[in-house]
Amino acid sequence: MKSVYIRGNASLYGEVTIQGSKNAALPIMAAALLVPGMCVLRNCPRISDVDHMCRILTSVGCRIDRRGRQIGIDAAALTDSRLPEEYVTRMRSSIMLMGPLLGRIGEVTLSHPGGCVIGDRPIDLHVKALSAMGAVCRDDGRQLCAVSRGLRGTAVRLAYPSVGATENVIMAAVLADGATLLENCAQEPEIFWLCDFLSHCGASIEQRGPGRLLICGRRRLHPCVYTIPPDRIVAGTYLCACLAAGGEIFLKGAPAGENDALEKTALRMGAVLRRTGTGLAVKRAGPLRSPGRVETGSFPAFPTDLQSPLLAALTQAEGESGLKETVFNGRFGVVKELNRMGAGIVVKKDTALVPGGRRLTGERVRASELRGGAALVIAGLCAEGDTLVENRSYVDRGYEDICRDLRFLGACVQDG
Ligand code: UD1
Repeated sequence: MKSVYIRGNASLYGEVTIQGSKNAALPIMAAALLVPGMCVLRNCPRISDVDHMCRILTSVGCRIDRRGRQIGIDAAALTDSRLPEEYVTRMRSSIMLMGPLLGRIGEVTLSHPGGCVIGDRPIDLHVKALSAMGAVCRDDGRQLCAVSRGLRGTAVRLAYPSVGATENVIMAAVLADGATLLENCAQEPEIFWLCDFLSHCGASIEQRGPGRLLICGRRRLHPCVYTIPPDRIVAGTYLCACLAAGGEIFLKGAPAGENDALEKTALRMGAVLRRTGTGLAVKRAGPLRSPGRVETGSFPAFPTDLQSPLLAALTQAEGESGLKETVFNGRFGVVKELNRMGAGIVVKKDTALVPGGRRLTGERVRASELRGGAALVIAGLCAEGDTLVENRSYVDRGYEDICRDLRFLGACVQDG
């Protein structure tokens, strides 16, 4: 597998344009299944998860017309409702095809997605909500099969505001018979973008207070042209890189209002942030201070996807920090590798205690998942000496080209 080579002792200076959002693009691509015609999605990130979603859509009969970052998806003639096992196991978020396939053709079969390296990932909330809407789900622990003779709108209250379950219910509800009142749903920005895309296709979705959506089923949706928004997690990753390495950078296109929890943490750590009409300027000139305790949670709390990148930055802060993970139960896998670089992090149950103020040393380390891999690249920037991050393919699932972007910011980073 390919690697990322990073020369340490870096400070970052320069400007980078933030790519389109992975977590907005994937559900919107899945939602295109609901539309009998060609939807055109612009600014899709060129990442392996998007390649993968294109393959899945092709396997169920969509015609895909891909021109760089523009992807046309024509779901006029769907031919299959079974998702090949290798696809589901390689990309866990294939589960988000359940809602649209049920809504559009009334059946879906997929192999059980199972757990993954960041923790257990059950799908009980998806199954329970879709069953309440009239789907009959059969799960033999290996395969999950759901059928319906027409979904019907109903009241659905999620026991936990799962992003994926919220997206599945929305996609199932837009073509259901009658109205669905979805309560305690996720409020991540990607939910807004999915609703915005579907509304452009003629769906009726109304926000009825925080975590509450009213969706009135329509007979048919129509195609639209839609631009995928910039990726808040990529912007947040580069912000963490600047915290860790120091310097002054401009994140062109960094979305406003989507990273408030991270931005507040960065201010506590001594960064200077300035929002302009086109993006976010980040400066870290003086010493980096510990923010004290930080806890991940559902939006608008600190995003779990930025927990590992922040962890890398906390190793450079003066004073001890505590980072508590409340969303996934196995998301500190990167600690072992950071400690090989000298971070000295101790994990106690769901909290990582970071002593801070450590000089990291360059090492050969190994990524085992997407955001942890990005955290290792950040650690490499502020280490003494050179770092090689192996298993780069994990990083490529969500970053178009992390080497290119960091070079725009003045770092010496190469494909290894
Ligand atoms: C999405 C994001 C991922 C992000 C996560 C949380 C995409 C493609 N992925 O993942 O990057 O880290 O949101 O912001 O958008 N849970 C259950 N039962 C269920 C479903 C979820 O117990 O049926 C639990 C999960 O195990 C986890 C928590 O809920 O502990 C959050 O998961 P969820 O919000 O569903 O995350 P994803 O949609 O998988």
